[in-house]
Amino acid sequence: MKLFLDSADIEEIKKVKSWGILEGVTTNPSLIKKAAEKYKVKNLETYIKKLLKVCKTIPVSLEVIGTDYEEMVREGKILHKKFNKISRNVYVKIPINPCLQKSCSMKSDGIQAIQTLHKSKIKINCTLIFTPEQATLAAKAGANYVSPFVGREDDYIREMGRIKFEKNDYFPKEGFKKHKKRLEDKGIISGVNLIEKISTNFKRSKIKTEVLAASIRNQKQLRECETAGADIATVTFKIIEKLISHSKTVEGMKKFTKDIVPEYKKMFK
Ligand code: G3P
Repeated sequence: MKLFLDSADIEEIKKVKSWGILEGVTTNPSLIKKAAEKYKVKNLETYIKKLLKVCKTIPVSLEVIGTDYEEMVREGKILHKKFNKISRNVYVKIPINPCLQKSCSMKSDGIQAIQTLHKSKIKINCTLIFTPEQATLAAKAGANYVSPFVGREDDYIREMGRIKFEKNDYFPKEGFKKHKKRLEDKGIISGVNLIEKISTNFKRSKIKTEVLAASIRNQKQLRECETAGADIATVTFKIIEKLISHSKTVEGMKKFTKDIVPEYKKMFK
């Protein structure tokens, strides 16, 4: 499974890139806002160009802001034209269903925009996926990545069951029982279960689109996404830092350091 950083923070990207483990970057309007505020960015276009140069050849997802077919296609082309020439690594993020109100349940503009941009040879990351069917349709339309939101699926299931939770709380991949009844979102019992279903379908139907697990809230969930078949996972800088840490590693380091005999040390002089 490839590891991407879910961030628009150039310093975080630089750091993880320098560790030699970064395989991609995902952004969205919320992450861009966070970075722009943190660095008091005056010219966002220049900032994004700098970010792309830092990333060199690894894929970077940039999201459109429109909600209609014409707007999304226009913006997708602008993002591609302005930024892809820098490192040829831009993936345009298109929401699967750009409805803004709960009462609007279906808007096919996302699917149509994917198809048009795909025909123009623009790489697509289809975002805000919450069902296996949305993923399959996005793939059929030509998306290179589909991004199911693992943590937000768990949030939704917990909210429906009126379960209190903190954002980063672990949610069991095998689902959650309340009064002996398993909570579910029309058959989906957890965010990891959503990844599992999409990955299984894609493998069975020989769909080449990669499954990019997004909205991952903790290390355990990341591990489960890999087992569930995700091709890529995108995580925050905080999660990446946690992946490197373990108290027994620190304990082991202390013991090894204490046990170094002078003759062994001498060899390195
Ligand atoms: O990649 C999607 C991600 O940025 C959303 O994360 O934790 O706000 O659901 P979260």
